[in-house]
Amino acid sequence: MLFAVLATTCLLAHAADTAHTKTVAIASANAAATEAGLETLRKGGNAVDAAIAVATSLSVVQPEASGLGGGFLALIHNAATGKDTFIDAREMAPQAVSTADYVNKDGSPNRDTSLNGPLAAGIPGSPAGLAYMAKKYGKLPLKVSLAPAIRLADEGFHPTRSLAASIKHRADVLGRYPASSAKFMPGGNPAVSTDLFRDPDQAQTLKTIAEKGAPGFYTGIVAEEMVRAVKAAGGTWTMADLASYRAHERTPITVDYAGYKVITAPPPSSGGVAVAEILNILRGIDLKNMDQVHRIHYLVEAMRRAFRDHNEYLGDPDFVSMPMDMLLSPFYADGLRQSILPERATSSSWLPAAHAPEPGMHTTHFSIIDKDGNMVSMTCTVNTTLGSAFVAGKSGVLLNNEMDDFALVAGKPNAFGLIGGSANAPVGGKRMLSSMTPSFVIGKDRLAVIGSPGGSTIITQVLEGILAFIDGKNAGEITAQKRIHHQYLPDRIDVESGSLPADVLGKLKAMGYEINDRESWGNMNVVVWDKSTNVKSAASDPRSHDGLGKVESIH
Ligand code: DON
Repeated sequence: MLFAVLATTCLLAHAADTAHTKTVAIASANAAATEAGLETLRKGGNAVDAAIAVATSLSVVQPEASGLGGGFLALIHNAATGKDTFIDAREMAPQAVSTADYVNKDGSPNRDTSLNGPLAAGIPGSPAGLAYMAKKYGKLPLKVSLAPAIRLADEGFHPTRSLAASIKHRADVLGRYPASSAKFMPGGNPAVSTDLFRDPDQAQTLKTIAEKGAPGFYTGIVAEEMVRAVKAAGGTWTMADLASYRAHERTPITVDYAGYKVITAPPPSSGGVAVAEILNILRGIDLKNMDQVHRIHYLVEAMRRAFRDHNEYLGDPDFVSMPMDMLLSPFYADGLRQSILPERATSSSWLPAAHAPEPGMHTTHFSIIDKDGNMVSMTCTVNTTLGSAFVAGKSGVLLNNEMDDFALVAGKPNAFGLIGGSANAPVGGKRMLSSMTPSFVIGKDRLAVIGSPGGSTIITQVLEGILAFIDGKNAGEITAQKRIHHQYLPDRIDVESGSLPADVLGKLKAMGYEINDRESWGNMNVVVWDKSTNVKSAASDPRSHDGLGKVESIH
């Protein structure tokens, strides 16, 4: 179905792309959010204003994945200056964070406090990040860019099947907290797709932000209500934690590969460092003309080495010093490439020491190009499905469970099987490491805006998407292509179910690989602009049925 939409919009875009009209393109994980972005562009907004409309609408219609109570990482391209910049609206630990809160009496990790309820929640970054973007890079006031989200929350919408399933899946934890039950299980029953789902409390909070900007969320009655609710349920947030939160603007990571420039996320994301390291390792290897077995072999060995470094070195750049010169150096990558055995898997245990439940599908990415060529690549999250499942009282704000992205218990895996050490240990005011990898891929006459959710798999999805784009694939093909994933530990290749022929699987096993057949993962949203024909295309991941990639002419 999505392909039909894509194909039609591509044709329309092609037909309409004359000197008198200019096209815009948006791909997001929810059709109402894509429409909210287009509405904002029609009102004269630029890509940043559209991103704010999409992100806040997703907070309402896709709360299982992201929201005001979460954080985001975004890349912005400013067509007028030609500059790229990175907005870090990642959550941070409250000052009173204590690792004791995440350990049971017997010393084992407490997975309940790490993932459920207010102790799991970092101080949200999204409202500060959105207000910062609007002021510095947007054209419209928040009142205009937040209008679609406020309308959706006030008037209501039919929950997607994914939202209804998420509520059912998290019903036990939602049921612990009265405000969570009231929002997601009105009358005691999990909301279903036929219900009209309204969210008046979040609508009110959005209106306060629209009027007062970030202070409307981080100070005053919304903040007081969130702190009251968090404390009453055993959390540690204070008004000072909220008032001290700031979004940061950082310099993106760039790496040249095969004639393209990849612009991607710096720490506190590990994604860009890992993507750059993998591309540097792959440099000079003729992946395109290689048989499938060896192509997978070299990809996986590069992934394994980059994820080892991820676990060892990366964290919040404001708290830890990281050997970035080494990690991004082509010479370092040369050494790693040399260590790949041509016909045999490297066991992760052979590498200097630095595991995994199935990642959920929650977090959301969208990609936007406006008529002037401004671009936004933005990944927003509350971490796992419906975050902490804790709604902070009458604020209507569903809090994230991003504290689990810290290495809360050294050496023990988080929800994505990632193991960290001191670089990613929790400290008051510190940002937890992220895998979110919003990226641009810039070629001589084609470019792509790309990203996806999926915890640790975000990094390998984006990498494989970048390689597909460089191989000449279009937006639809990039989102649809089958995926593989390796993250050093657990030491196995995740293969999207049924995607590899038996002989390829047999040969990989003979080389020493463990293969893990996995259900599909990710929810990629890609926009591609071919400047030689001036055709834009947008595609939403066919693994989800809720997304929409759409190209439209703006006069
Ligand atoms: O920032 C991160 O890396 C995670 N909180 C992202 C979580 C995620 O993608 C969950 N979705 N599948």
